[in-house]
Amino acid sequence: MENIVKGVPLIELKNVTKVFDETTVLYDINLQIFENEFVTLLGPSGCGKTTTLRIIGGFEQPTSGQVLFNGVDVTTLPPNKRATNTVFQNYALFPHLNVEGNIAFGLKNQIGEKEKPVGKFSFKKWWAYFSVKFTNLFKKKNKRKVVPDYPKNERLFYRIGYFFSKKGKLYSKEQIQEKVAEVIKLVNLSGLEKRSITQLSGGQKQRVAIARAIVNKPKVLLLDESLSALDLKLRKEMQYELKELQRNIGITFIFVTHDQEEALTMSDKIVVMKEGEIEQIGSAEDIYNDPIDSYVSNFIGDSNLFKGKTIDKKHVLLYDKVLGCDETDIEPETEVDLLLRPEDIDIVSVEKGKLVGRVDALFFKGVFYEVDVVLENDNRLITIHTTDYIEVGKRIGISFEDEDIHVMEHNE
Ligand SMILES: Nc1ncnc2c1ncn2[C@@H]1O[C@H](COP(=O)(O)OP(=O)(O)O)[C@@H](O)[C@H]1O
Ligand SMILES: [Mg+2]
Repeated sequence: MENIVKGVPLIELKNVTKVFDETTVLYDINLQIFENEFVTLLGPSGCGKTTTLRIIGGFEQPTSGQVLFNGVDVTTLPPNKRATNTVFQNYALFPHLNVEGNIAFGLKNQIGEKEKPVGKFSFKKWWAYFSVKFTNLFKKKNKRKVVPDYPKNERLFYRIGYFFSKKGKLYSKEQIQEKVAEVIKLVNLSGLEKRSITQLSGGQKQRVAIARAIVNKPKVLLLDESLSALDLKLRKEMQYELKELQRNIGITFIFVTHDQEEALTMSDKIVVMKEGEIEQIGSAEDIYNDPIDSYVSNFIGDSNLFKGKTIDKKHVLLYDKVLGCDETDIEPETEVDLLLRPEDIDIVSVEKGKLVGRVDALFFKGVFYEVDVVLENDNRLITIHTTDYIEVGKRIGISFEDEDIHVMEHNE
């Protein structure tokens, strides 16, 4: 995948650093996001996910570094001039509007797409244009002056159109109805069009928030922990629906979560963050199978971690044993972390075991048993997943394939 030439990224962060009140919260972030990718920013609370998302959306400016959209620097552009739309962690729906009203709100308050007809010039419009200019004089400096990002020569007419529409309703009533109906179908809210927001379940509200964000057909949808508030079953459903949306309407998703399972199931690309830095970028498989260090491996999936030492490319020292391992580029005689996933370990007879231990506890997990084993080498506890029942207290051997020992740089 990495070798395929993908052209100019849709979004690129270049050496982005963010300082809040003398505290650096993002250090030199470099990230490329391509069209139609589902990218997840994953990391514990406080690692800088939301700040990164807000910088992409234009709600926050980097202290240094650049944000590029299609190769064009948009670092200083406000949110309404970017091809992004955002569903925040605490999405706020309007309680006085029904489902339809909430979704249409975005359309009524945003100027339409390029397909909008451009009116012909007339004295009346010319006058209208200057009236807008005149009123703008009295607007506060930072107040949003909605001027769409169109070619310069068309801009005048859009301003005129905007003025005539009074509230900026550049879509006709019929157009709005059509667009809202389409998106209601997409997020599975059919039948609830007239329902009051206060009478919706959490999952339904979440869908309204997503519908409101996609009704403008943004090129990029930014989702900040958007599913975290939902219970497990609903979350799974919404995960599925978001993936469907991505397939059906070809939006690029940038999704923030601290939930590793959510990241693994949803993403084309996972960006693992740690204390304001990117620790690793890769596909779900890359990150799971080849975590760069113990931080990433602990964050993604269950891990048994050991301290060890490299011997050559294909051998490591674990306790006092030389064992085969997944091929590594790390220099020989280096202290490393070794990762063994619980599902990669087999329970065998004591004689056949690469390591020996005693079953300490057994937990039934539905599809498998989680077995805690105390190793004889140093009394530490490791976790094994197996479908076979095993007696607590039994002395067992544990075994694994060479390539199941993943060698990682030791940090700290
Ligand atoms: N507006 C702000 N002012 C000061 N500090 C902030 C602000 N926003 C975020 N931070 C700090 O930046 C760090 C990263 O926050 P955030 O991006 O929200 O992390 P995450 O979304 O991963 O939980 C945190 O330590 C947070 O306290
Ligand atoms: Mg956050």
